[in-house]
Amino acid sequence: MKVLVVGGGGREHALVWKIAQSPLVTEVLAAPGNAGTAAQARNVPLKADDIDGLTALAADEGCGLTVIGPEVPLTLGLADRLAERGLPVFGPSKAAARLEGSKAFAKEIMKRGGVPTARAWLTEDRGEALGRARELGFPVVVKADGLAAGKGVVIATDEPAAAAAIDDALVDRRFGDSGSSVLIEEYLEGEEASVLAIVDGERIALLVPSQDHKRALDGDRGPNTGGMGAYAPAPVVTPAVFETTATDVIRATVRALSEFDGTVYRGVLYAGLMITGDRVRVLEFNCRFGDPEAQVVLPLLDGDIVEIMLAASRGQLDPATVRAKGGAAACVVMASGGYPGSYEKGKVIAGLDAADDMDDVIVFHAGTAIADGQVVTSGGRVLGVTGLGADLERAIGSAYAAVGAIDFEGANSRKDIGHRALNRCGAR
Ligand code: AMP
Ligand code: GLY
Repeated sequence: MKVLVVGGGGREHALVWKIAQSPLVTEVLAAPGNAGTAAQARNVPLKADDIDGLTALAADEGCGLTVIGPEVPLTLGLADRLAERGLPVFGPSKAAARLEGSKAFAKEIMKRGGVPTARAWLTEDRGEALGRARELGFPVVVKADGLAAGKGVVIATDEPAAAAAIDDALVDRRFGDSGSSVLIEEYLEGEEASVLAIVDGERIALLVPSQDHKRALDGDRGPNTGGMGAYAPAPVVTPAVFETTATDVIRATVRALSEFDGTVYRGVLYAGLMITGDRVRVLEFNCRFGDPEAQVVLPLLDGDIVEIMLAASRGQLDPATVRAKGGAAACVVMASGGYPGSYEKGKVIAGLDAADDMDDVIVFHAGTAIADGQVVTSGGRVLGVTGLGADLERAIGSAYAAVGAIDFEGANSRKDIGHRALNRCGAR
């Protein structure tokens, strides 16, 4: 069977890598893919938001499965379009993807389903927004309602900062229509974790819990990025937290979506959690694999992902087929100098073969391209260098050994991926 993977980042390379291992698969197509997917898949130069082009591609090639990586094509309804043509797809419908596409919708479903989350108010009115912020006290969280590529959340430490964030969204329309209303949300303290589940509409299977590192600089300082690294399993997700997440978060959300909205969820449901002791509260939902969480979660998945995805897309998931491999994984993102601000592209990447040859290392490409036969940088996040090991310390060691072997002008990575877990285990 041919399988099409939509997207071209590190998450999509991890998907291609895992999918290519399935005995069911004869060929993987990646659209648009990157220099890394080119080694395991046929890249097709279509953008991930080209819904017509992607639908035609899946139909013309007779793809037995299309896996949609990023949120944008999901919120644009690519899964619905493929399903209308009778083409198997792994990824939620446009209606179900509102869990990520609208924070207000997600809050409403959580309220209906009794899913634990921060208190929040939605408003289009500047005065009301400020009033709610004062009521909650500072710090307070100001969020644009719609998709804002991770930039729509501000933690305001005082009233002027909250007012500025509210004005940015409501008055200056910095996020366009995505920010025509804002959520004013209670600030939660604790430690974050990402729990991803495969959902078939009814049955669920949780993947290994992970944690990503959103800030640019060591010690979780500096500006937010798309993610500078990740590791799994995340020890903050204790067995009790895992159970609570399965029952009170994932199952309750899928059920509430179906009961109150008539919407079936099929695909990956990603819960971004704040964990305070044994207490679990949802910060956000994503309707897809995380990036870079996929780069650590997929290598730890035992079993045939294509079989799992096909079963989920048909509403016939057997949760017992979703098994964890044991051991740990750590992914260190190598970014272009200047990222998340402006950066140059086209830098030649050296040392990829040496890193690929190392034991317990997988080099996932993100912003890479091929120019004159050489692999060059073409984005902010360039590589997701993943190390595997019996435990997290060894996985981190493998990842950093490979990072040391790779070089490109301006290369920049965090040196402390996994630090919270190591501190927790007393290893450091
Ligand atoms: P979101 O896009 O909603 O996940 O928010 C992005 C980041 O902002 C999260 O990963 C958290 O670090 C932070 N954040 C969001 N909501 C809250 C909250 N209610 N309390 C504390 N931090 C938050
Ligand atoms: N790593 C966060 C995300 O994929 O949204």
